[in-house]
Amino acid sequence: MEEFSRIQRLPPYVFAVVGDLKMKLRRQNIDIVDFSMGNPDIPTPPHIVDKLVEAAQKPVNHRYSLSRGIPHLRDAVCERYKRLYDVDLDPNTEAIVTMGSKEGLAHLSLAMLSPGDVVLAPDPTYPIHKYAPIIAGADVRSVPIGPGRDFFEDLTAATKQAWPRPKLLFLCYPHNPTTEVTDLAFFEKVVEFAKENNIWVIHDLAYADLVFDGYKAPSFLQAKGAKDVGVEFYTMSKSYSMPGWRVGFCLGNPKLIHALSRIKSYLDYGIFQPIQIAATVGMRSGDEEVTKICDIYRQRRDWLIDGLNRIGWEVPAPKATMFVWARIPEEFRKMGSVEFSKLLLTEAQVAVSPGLGFGAYGDEYVRFALIENDHRTRQAVRNIRRDAMDKFKSAQKKSEITEDELHEGEDKMQKLTDKYVKEVDAMVAKKSKELAEV
Ligand SMILES: Cc1ncc(COP(=O)(O)O)c(C=O)c1O
Repeated sequence: MEEFSRIQRLPPYVFAVVGDLKMKLRRQNIDIVDFSMGNPDIPTPPHIVDKLVEAAQKPVNHRYSLSRGIPHLRDAVCERYKRLYDVDLDPNTEAIVTMGSKEGLAHLSLAMLSPGDVVLAPDPTYPIHKYAPIIAGADVRSVPIGPGRDFFEDLTAATKQAWPRPKLLFLCYPHNPTTEVTDLAFFEKVVEFAKENNIWVIHDLAYADLVFDGYKAPSFLQAKGAKDVGVEFYTMSKSYSMPGWRVGFCLGNPKLIHALSRIKSYLDYGIFQPIQIAATVGMRSGDEEVTKICDIYRQRRDWLIDGLNRIGWEVPAPKATMFVWARIPEEFRKMGSVEFSKLLLTEAQVAVSPGLGFGAYGDEYVRFALIENDHRTRQAVRNIRRDAMDKFKSAQKKSEITEDELHEGEDKMQKLTDKYVKEVDAMVAKKSKELAEV
């Protein structure tokens, strides 16, 4: 049978390795404290849910809606940008509603890119920043990010080395998974760079409102000239805890907004209208609920960071996002993030995401998503201290992945992932035998 080339360019998620192991352990009735997926657990504010129920009862709202979003919702997001960032946006030409930002990021890539185009994406990064261009047939070059790196030096090197010259740069601050934050001066330099090098910019502001300790995340669109070179995605998934509702926005450059609305007009009829109405109410009802949601994440961050630091795993407190990006303790670092995540699961019953899943440069880290409550977070810390660290030392085996392998690209990643999936079965069998003996 013929293979599908686009599908072949999509390796199985590295996260599937840990996900699979987690499910298998759960099927053995083993309780897993789950920090692995950034899937918000906080209920959507009740007045938004109430509005959805009310709007859903009106038959007029059962029809196809507007692909680019109802005018009130586009107005509401533009009002928000004016209020919070003093950015002026035309709701007709500079704003479009998307079915979550992931859908928008993927379809904008499809609208803009042709096979052979080159795209720059951070490494590590949220996978869609890399795979949206890949789905569109483009080639992706990494710009490494992380402590001690000079972003503009790496960006310049990646741009110079690429042929054809890069067409598009993805950015995301506050960043998933590294939790890095930035300031307006950075975005101003990005605009300058994009103009000099004729590169479009897509900025993902998914964690706009999950900010702590007085830090305020700037919008890319606040930078002078940003609208000339790019767009920003914003989402209600995190700020309003509405991940399942699928309400996102793309804002900024009219040419890109037009391209996205054109492609979407062929593909969808818009989000279910009652959802758009409820989202409009949510966005216009002030920032109190957003602040409450942010406070919950801050509190969880503090529990986890305090706990990890107390047991000797030193991790700095992030200034933003719903994640903790923890460098693997030195004595275990050589194993790589997949092996270390597997150990955390089997020895401490704690699920995290291996940094490798976000790119080769993430392999010295694991990511905790702050989706567990106080009690569960404390339990996780206790498990890591009591059960894991000692056992880790004896269970530790050197990673079979070499540095070179890590950088050899997708083919290798796919083979490694396949190999890990096989190992999972053996490991679960061993663990359940051990537990049966206890
Ligand atoms: C950086 C980033 N962008 C986008 C998304 C997806 O957001 P949405 O629910 O709007 O598709 C996520 C979800 O975790 C994310 O971390």
